[in-house]
Amino acid sequence: MSSLSFPQKALRGASVLWFTVAAVGQMVFIGFILAFYGVRTATGNFAGWNDKPLIDGYIQGDNLGNVVFAAHVLLASVVTLCGLMQLVPALRRKWPRLHRWSGRTFMVIALFMALSGVWLAVVRGTYLSVISAVAILINAVLILVFVALAWRHAIKRRFEQHRRWAMRTFMAVSGVWFLRVGIMGWIVINRGPVGMTDKMSGPTDIVLTFGSYLIPLAVLELYEAAQRSDSNGLKSLTATVLALAAAFTAIGVFGAIAFLWGPYL
Ligand code: HEM
Repeated sequence: MSSLSFPQKALRGASVLWFTVAAVGQMVFIGFILAFYGVRTATGNFAGWNDKPLIDGYIQGDNLGNVVFAAHVLLASVVTLCGLMQLVPALRRKWPRLHRWSGRTFMVIALFMALSGVWLAVVRGTYLSVISAVAILINAVLILVFVALAWRHAIKRRFEQHRRWAMRTFMAVSGVWFLRVGIMGWIVINRGPVGMTDKMSGPTDIVLTFGSYLIPLAVLELYEAAQRSDSNGLKSLTATVLALAAAFTAIGVFGAIAFLWGPYL
């Protein structure tokens, strides 16, 4: 570690900082899902899903739609937890079997999340605007493609490629979480929903809905390139981007806890 140059240390430090902030924010997301949807579902209070603002949520008489919605939201907590577990190096080293099983669980549930999400949006018709529906449908397609590639490389034992596609899958699966954090970060910084509409069709909404997965994927590519590169300039630039991303993520997580999740618990 001491042989690392300053830009290398900065890159490592900034990536650990971002991941730590994101991990805390995702754990809070999991906690919210269990405390809000988990408790209501376990006690049979399905109509209570709508105690928070939703597009559809529980619809009386729509049994299939309600079951798909319940499976989708409850498994969101499992996929988020398994995704986080995959990225903790100590878990990977100490319990490789756990890493393999949580990895398989993550991949299978990620497929289910994408397919059930598409079903909710297209068949049940749960979307706010066409542009936001298109954005999340592209997110779903990316999840399906990335899972297939990560899986294929793992089976063929091409572990470096597997790792890269698995990281991309993590970013795409986290798109829904990034969207909430991005919306709340923007609202907190601007002290209001600047450029946003109720239908999620304002200019900021469009940037955030597509950016919720495209920006994290771009930052991931930058990080991978900086790690491979000998350029101290690229490493320093990427460390700065990651530090700014950590700050924005922290603001967004704070906003999500204060305004999106906390008030409904
Ligand atoms: C893979 C990661 C995903 C996670 C972690 C996730 C998580 C969630 C959560 C927590 C909810 C409950 C809404 C809330 O409390 O705000 C939800 C609802 C929903 N999700 Fe997902 N989701 C994912 C992917 C998708 C995808 C890819 C689509 C669409 C293609 C989608 C479409 C929907 C729809 C339509 C609802 C219902 C919203 C409503 O009735 O108001 N989800 N999702």
